[in-house]
Amino acid sequence: MEDAIVINGGKRLNGEVYISGAKNATVALIPATVLADGVVTIFDVPNISDVEALVTLLRELNIDVIEKKNHLIIDTTKIKNTTLDHEAVGKLRASYYFMGALLGRYKYAKIRMSGGCYLGPRPINLHLKGFEALGAKVSYDDGYYEIKADELVGTNIYLDFASVGATINIMMAAVFAKGRTIIENAAKEPEIIDLSSMLNKMGAHIRGAGTSEIVIDGVEHLGGCIHEIIPDRIEAGTYIIMAAAVAEKMTIKNVIPQHLESMLLKLSEMGVRMDIGLDEVTVYHTDTLNGVEVKTLPFPGFATDLQQPISALMTQAFGVSRIRDTIYPERYKHLHELALLGAEVDYSDGLISISGPTSLVGTTVTATDLRCGACLVIAGLIAEGTTIIKDAYHIYRGYEGIKEKLLKLGADVR
Ligand code: EPU
Repeated sequence: MEDAIVINGGKRLNGEVYISGAKNATVALIPATVLADGVVTIFDVPNISDVEALVTLLRELNIDVIEKKNHLIIDTTKIKNTTLDHEAVGKLRASYYFMGALLGRYKYAKIRMSGGCYLGPRPINLHLKGFEALGAKVSYDDGYYEIKADELVGTNIYLDFASVGATINIMMAAVFAKGRTIIENAAKEPEIIDLSSMLNKMGAHIRGAGTSEIVIDGVEHLGGCIHEIIPDRIEAGTYIIMAAAVAEKMTIKNVIPQHLESMLLKLSEMGVRMDIGLDEVTVYHTDTLNGVEVKTLPFPGFATDLQQPISALMTQAFGVSRIRDTIYPERYKHLHELALLGAEVDYSDGLISISGPTSLVGTTVTATDLRCGACLVIAGLIAEGTTIIKDAYHIYRGYEGIKEKLLKLGADVR
């Protein structure tokens, strides 16, 4: 069967899994290379389909890209600005980072509207408000955004919501703006710190990334650099949750535990036994899990991207677990799929309820989006019998080598 993951569940997993570079950092770092005049080498690039799409877009801009195992060598010296309307744009939402990057470098960007996972409405008004505050004019016609400026001038930009995407896009647009840009109520996610470190290595002057106030002093030129991507906290969180559900003993390596504090505390509250090391987490089998309440919040709160994976674990916990996703209240399509596997789930007024423990039984389900897919992989590993996860392409957008990693842990998966 094409584009499906098939899991024969009910087996205990054991061993080690190594976490890849962070997808949500990578998808910002690749467009950011447009700002450099020179060669940018990025290490620990995950081998996922989102990266393929972004590399296609770099090539559309006449940028030379050499792809090696888990690293990219990106030479921007022959770059040409052009309208981005290749079909790759529609494959992921993060292609909109080319707006900020091209606007920053050329004061002109034209791009077709982006795609990505449907998690309810995902407006980009804050990104556009930021571009306009820097002096750009934004127009939208027939599916294309056109953003242009005579000059970009630093200013204070207050974000009504600490949006990850808006913070990143404005940072990129502002690196060459005249004077000082201050982003207030900026998002504090680790991926933003990673972008700021790479831009600073290229010659930018950005302070405060990781806090709610980011200060960008405009510079005139950015050159090449070498950068290593941080580990993927969402991939790590997914495997930790998986281990809590089905492992005898599993060590998740290449983790920054500080990036996952709220999730690790929530798992402790559920009764999960873990050893948290400097850069790894070992999870042991636990007989009894307790139901918990989760509220997703911007970093350092519980990540919305882990809400769907932890839903699968909650089906195995005693009592009623509840989740309120304050970032994406409509991110609940996975519940329908979990119910097909036998879970007792409910959704009303933005509140997810999961009663447990329930015995899950394999059947055919659909990955409606990336993290729904991750949830279903965990549920499929728990379930007795065969689970077929259709539309697995969503999963390959964000989980490098998931089949190989699962096989190494002893899963029966193809
Ligand atoms: N929002 C607005 N206006 C805007 C921008 C955002 O109202 O202009 C709202 C959104 O509708 C949403 C909230 O603000 O309710 C958060 O959106 P944010 O901009 O922070 O999210 P994003 O940049 O679109 C990134 C990740 C998502 C992750 C969110 C939240 C990338 C490429 N995507 O999205 O990752 O869920 O931050 O942490 O970094 C995933 O990996 O599965 C994924 C969806």
